[in-house]
Amino acid sequence: MRILVTGGTGYIGSHTCVQLLERGDEVIIVDNLSNSKATVVDSIEKITGKRPVFYEADILDKNALDSIFAAHKPEAVIHFAGLKAVGESVSKPLEYYHNNITGTLMLLDVMRAHNCFKIVFSSSATVYGTPASVPIREDFPTGGTTNPYGTTKLYLERILSDLYVSDKRWSVVLLRYFNPIGAHESGLIGDNPNGIPNNLMPYVTRVAKGVLPELAVYGNDYPTHDGTGVRDFIHVEDLAAGHIAVLGHMEDVGVQVYNLGTGVGYSVLDLVNAFEKATGIKVPYRIAERRAGDIAECWSDPSKAQNELGWKATHTLEDMCRSAWNFEKAN
Ligand code: NAD
Ligand code: UD1
Repeated sequence: MRILVTGGTGYIGSHTCVQLLERGDEVIIVDNLSNSKATVVDSIEKITGKRPVFYEADILDKNALDSIFAAHKPEAVIHFAGLKAVGESVSKPLEYYHNNITGTLMLLDVMRAHNCFKIVFSSSATVYGTPASVPIREDFPTGGTTNPYGTTKLYLERILSDLYVSDKRWSVVLLRYFNPIGAHESGLIGDNPNGIPNNLMPYVTRVAKGVLPELAVYGNDYPTHDGTGVRDFIHVEDLAAGHIAVLGHMEDVGVQVYNLGTGVGYSVLDLVNAFEKATGIKVPYRIAERRAGDIAECWSDPSKAQNELGWKATHTLEDMCRSAWNFEKAN
């Protein structure tokens, strides 16, 4: 297939592009490099032996999108592009709503003008707010997001659903990611946030490297097995494979929603222990206050994706830790 990938030089997008190229798809990346580097395109080529078409362009730039669609006539779009820093979204709501929502509206408008009606959208488990119970199924209520980032995902799910109601030519797949971590086994691509990381794994790898002195564990008084927060960590390679599985199920699907997770919850301290075991490196940590907006437990019921797409996460927590460290060491 000819697939246009927005945000394709980013963390999840780059791993997905690798798998698309490996199975013979034609890949056209559109990324404004606001949170990634052009050298990722070289890394993708190094891994796959194939160079994706790359445009440094903003999805807010309708003219640029229009010429890219005219030149390549993509059959489907995987839409990763977006701003994703939860804390920053609280201080810059206009920038987040504009980039994520207006950017997606521009993209959808250009898709329609070029008769491209298949879209896979990067949503997040954050749309479930504080779930009444775990594991979380796709039919659980959504809403109650606690920050503008999460709210952009919630609104965009709604916008995409409304679009299908208006025009049945659309096929929309909403993928709700749980907590992607880890990196490609080559160590050439991975999660490389600018500045001090907000998310757990990049923080852990930087403590292990000695760049940061210690990990602050946000709270050990949650009602979980060891008091620390429990999440559904999923290897980014498994997550990327979920997108590949979806592409085989995009004919007249209407609007479909899938959780992409492992179905297993691990705590912050489970992850620290698994990291130490996988790498042999000690990760000094201290217990700190709970972080505002965090929930105790969040893990998926991924059986819908397994039953309907034949997709299942296969990597272990140790695989995730080893590959994340392999990438950090190399960078
Ligand atoms: P990322 O920041 O590494 O990748 C996003 C890419 O989009 C970046 O390369 C950035 O430069 C690009 N981009 C942003 N705004 C753009 C614009 N206006 N025009 C063109 N390019 C633009 O993030 P990621 O972790 O790979 O996440 C990919 C998607 O998945 C995002 O939409 C994110 O919100 C969503 N998501 C991520 C996680 C996670 O834990 N990483 C969890 C749930 C959902
Ligand atoms: C966060 C976002 C979520 C977003 C996801 C991926 C919040 C409230 N949620 O999820 O919307 O989709 O990132 O970008 O920010 N932790 C520590 N110390 C740290 C970092 C994290 O103890 O230095 C703990 C957290 O308290 C949490 C767990 O590790 O219990 C995972 O945190 P994180 O990686 O930030 O992901 P989420 O909070 O699950």
